[in-house]
Amino acid sequence: MSAGKVDATGGGEAALPRLLRFDGPLEQEQDLLGAASVIYDCWRRGERVLAVAPDASTRLTDCLDRLGFSRESVSVVAEAPTANPDRADAEPRRLRVALLGCGAVGGGVLELLRARPDQFELAPVLVRNLAASRGPGLFTATVEEALAPRPDILIELMGGADGPADLMRSALLDGIQVVTANKAAVARHWDSLHACASRGGGELRYSAAVGGGVPIIETVRRCRNLAKIEGVMNGTCNFILGLMGKGRGFDSALAKAQAMGFAEADPSGDVDGHDAADKLAILIREAFGIALAPDRIARQSLREITPATIAAAAARGEVLKQVASCRHYGNGSLDASVQIVALPAEHPLAAPQREENCFLLTDGAGTVTRVFGKGAGRWPTALAVFADVMDAQRALLGRAEPRAATDPLRLTA
Ligand SMILES: NC(=O)c1ccc[n+]([C@@H]2O[C@H](COP(=O)([O-])OP(=O)(O)OC[C@H]3O[C@@H](n4cnc5c(N)ncnc54)[C@H](OP(=O)(O)O)[C@@H]3O)[C@@H](O)[C@H]2O)c1
Repeated sequence: MSAGKVDATGGGEAALPRLLRFDGPLEQEQDLLGAASVIYDCWRRGERVLAVAPDASTRLTDCLDRLGFSRESVSVVAEAPTANPDRADAEPRRLRVALLGCGAVGGGVLELLRARPDQFELAPVLVRNLAASRGPGLFTATVEEALAPRPDILIELMGGADGPADLMRSALLDGIQVVTANKAAVARHWDSLHACASRGGGELRYSAAVGGGVPIIETVRRCRNLAKIEGVMNGTCNFILGLMGKGRGFDSALAKAQAMGFAEADPSGDVDGHDAADKLAILIREAFGIALAPDRIARQSLREITPATIAAAAARGEVLKQVASCRHYGNGSLDASVQIVALPAEHPLAAPQREENCFLLTDGAGTVTRVFGKGAGRWPTALAVFADVMDAQRALLGRAEPRAATDPLRLTA
């Protein structure tokens, strides 16, 4: 796979979009995803992007639409102002990468890494089951083999909380760049992970842990004086509530979600609100620097919702959503909860469908920033993970990272 040659210019000034040029027909899905990963890396910094794809503008536009990129933030054209060939990326040093987990997200990240053999050298990928289709040499069920030789970047995509946190702590203590999408591990082991990073010199990145492909963590970091965060943060619950709104009972909607791969065999993490509480705890850390353990966040379970509750809401013109929210008070105190709430159909948080996420960030002056997009799924999440990998790559190779825009990111699907 090749994303074509990329020339990158602009992007430093708020008024100027970053110009990215993709040569070649981008005929394969892999080529399109490679281009999307480069665009996402800029988009999540709040930069507007002008993508020039002389031979593939329609295909690239369709691909970005499928992935939920905002047309306000990313434009694709066939021709553009002259790109500056002097700014083309130089050949980087190859970095050793350990990938732990090759499921829904890890499988996508593996493809993105394999597409750049000039940049990344992969150790055998850690999985639980070494099936026949996963040849020895490429995969392993042994942690030691996945981590040898010592990686420059460790990517953790296994799921769980305590085991992955142990592996990440060791890596961070050893000065390794760590990337994860694991909200449970980050939320529950925040202090020890960050302590190991500062002690050992490693760096921890977890953009995809909240919002999947929605760059909500980056947006929260850019916002000043935040007072309130609320959002539809769990795609599985949103999917189940959507089906219940069409007349299914909870058990039937859950079974459908499991059959479609949205819900785990043990769905309690999603339906009982633990997943949303983990995500909210991470956003609270990012926005307010407050340590609130996820299990101290009040949670309402989806199991409490009956078809009668849904019908009553519909009769009032309302829809039910699982909303995680927190309000920060001037005196340092904070309210936080995960609840099933009835919202007027025109409310911004009523909009997300299926696995979509939506976040509303309100500052002290009452200004609301809305961030919306695909909260889960292989490619939106893999692109977010890979953008963290590119940040780690830049950190290791000593390149200046592109300056983040000062304006808050405003994304719409
Ligand atoms: N799926 C999403 O849309 C999404 C979105 C945002 C964040 N995340 C987060 O991303 C992470 C990965 O999610 P996923 O959906 O990709 O999970 P998944 O599909 O269940 O894949 C997990 C992978 O890790 C391997 N694995 C699990 N436990 C292991 C162990 N003890 N030893 C060795 N290998 C092990 C599995 O091996 P086998 O293949 O052999 O079973 C599998 O390859 C999770 O932390 C999740 O919360 C996921």
